Amino acid sequence: MAAEINGSSPGTLQSICYERGSLRLLDQTRLPLETVYLDIKDSSDGWTAIRDMVVRGAPAIAIAAALSLAIEVFNLDFSGTPEDAASYLAKKLEYLVSSRPTAVNLSDAAEKLRSLVLKIAETANEAQTVFQAYVDAAETMLVDDVAANKAIGFHGASHLGSHLENMQKISVLTHCNTGSLATAGYGTALGVIRALQTEGWLEKAFCTETRPFNQGSRLTAFELVHDQIPATLIADSAVAALMKAGVVNAVVVGADRIAANGDTANKIGTYSVALSAYHHGIQFYVAAPITSIDLSISSGDQIVIEERSEKELLHSDGGRGKQVAASGISVWNPAFDVTPARLITAIFTEKGVIRKSSEDAFDIKGFIESAK
Ligand code: MRU
Repeated sequence: MAAEINGSSPGTLQSICYERGSLRLLDQTRLPLETVYLDIKDSSDGWTAIRDMVVRGAPAIAIAAALSLAIEVFNLDFSGTPEDAASYLAKKLEYLVSSRPTAVNLSDAAEKLRSLVLKIAETANEAQTVFQAYVDAAETMLVDDVAANKAIGFHGASHLGSHLENMQKISVLTHCNTGSLATAGYGTALGVIRALQTEGWLEKAFCTETRPFNQGSRLTAFELVHDQIPATLIADSAVAALMKAGVVNAVVVGADRIAANGDTANKIGTYSVALSAYHHGIQFYVAAPITSIDLSISSGDQIVIEERSEKELLHSDGGRGKQVAASGISVWNPAFDVTPARLITAIFTEKGVIRKSSEDAFDIKGFIESAK
């Protein structure tokens, strides 16, 4: 049997367990009380797992989607031409992209995989060559993501560490879950917190509950406790009071889509955290891989924000528990919001730190070109 492919360090939480022909996803809707893995047999299972939040977090969604299709084609009895194989994969990728709209990582991965298989099909003699190239590329995404996250953690912690001045250590607030559970391993914003802890520069992490789905209290708190990182959980509504108390030195959050000017879509509530940080003179950072950047849109106004079921607000436990809101009330439940670049101090990526080119915007295209 082939060895399991993952980039996580031993002992870290693993949301995606993959080996050729087998994919299991940690059911994050059941954390922190139960650790249950679901078998994913094909792209249809992958689509449902993403839509139902079994797997969530921008990088994890993209990788799980790509691997679910890798599982499907691994043992597929297919009699078509290489071109037929490429169009089979392209159609399934388009379907997977429809599972959740806001995170660009998924559509970015789908587009790269689609281009790859179309190119391979031009010279391949048999369909199997196209499927094999697809499986190899999807597996590479899993390994590359952990390396990118470790580099993000390094650049973020080095940047924050260089600003320690007369402070011995810093306390960092984060929102939502951006850790091992949201990625192939280590995490983005939570990766920066992990790197600060490794360097001995972290006083404490604060994590918000992140209502209504509680990714903070259920998942980030779980990861922080698991890694024995000193941490405190707060209600989302306690952010401004915590900042006023003077115990937070910086905010680091993840991203689902970053526009060319730096406007950033992330979990609902991120914008409120950024406004509070601005008011209190606290630096606000975004930590994300380059695959979270969408240069095709000039600003955050063009980002499609997913709206989720009213059940998440009407019932406890992110929609899975008992009714807690008055029957008959109407609900607005956007899953993400957009923080304007103006409120963001800098963006930590695996290629380094993107700094402001003007008070209101980042030159992200210029950064990516110079980092090549
Ligand atoms: O709805 P979710 O749980 O998928 O939202 C996740 C977030 O908003 C994360 O902050 C973002 O995807 C970055 S994960 C590294």
